[in-house]
Amino acid sequence: MLTLQQKIDQAIVNVPDFPTAGIQYKDITPLFLNPTLSQEIIDAFVAQAQGKVDVVCGIESRGFLYGVQIAHQLNVPFVLIRKAGKLPPPTLAVSYDLEYGSATIELNKNYIPKGARVMIHDDILATGGTAAAAAELITLCEAQVVQFSFIATLGFLNGKEKLTPITSNIISLTTF
Ligand code: PRP
Ligand code: MG
Repeated sequence: MLTLQQKIDQAIVNVPDFPTAGIQYKDITPLFLNPTLSQEIIDAFVAQAQGKVDVVCGIESRGFLYGVQIAHQLNVPFVLIRKAGKLPPPTLAVSYDLEYGSATIELNKNYIPKGARVMIHDDILATGGTAAAAAELITLCEAQVVQFSFIATLGFLNGKEKLTPITSNIISLTTF
């Protein structure tokens, strides 16, 4: 019998040279073709967060896919963190550096209660820039990131090191 990690590893497709030459793209979309595996993934996240999280925040766009399901299975609210300009006011914004240029993410500042224990969920942890910026948004709301959760980590990009000072509670179901 395969472990959950083995099932995820088998489902994720490595696409060489996408979107540019030299990049090994990890396509997670086959996970969503499989409702049984998707439910196992959601259950695994829920088991590690039960009773410890008041709000789940998902990062646009692939962090929405399981994020909302994790939140609702935990019976807690789901809050969307979106790319700049997508959410109506009142919003808070945090900008962060990319390899070339910068990006901004936002959330509705009324949706995170002060003191809330927040899980930040996304599909992939790469450099950690996006998740760290999401954590800054939570800090601006005077709430606390108590857990990061990802389907997969690209270990060679050292994103975990960037997130550990925020919380060492970093769940990742597999690593490449
Ligand atoms: C990808 C991925 C994570 C982020 C990880 O999202 O889904 O959100 O990059 O990168 P980092 O750890 O280096 O910050 P992308 O910006 O490609 O957008 P998408 O989810 O909307 O496809
Ligand atoms: Mg993303």
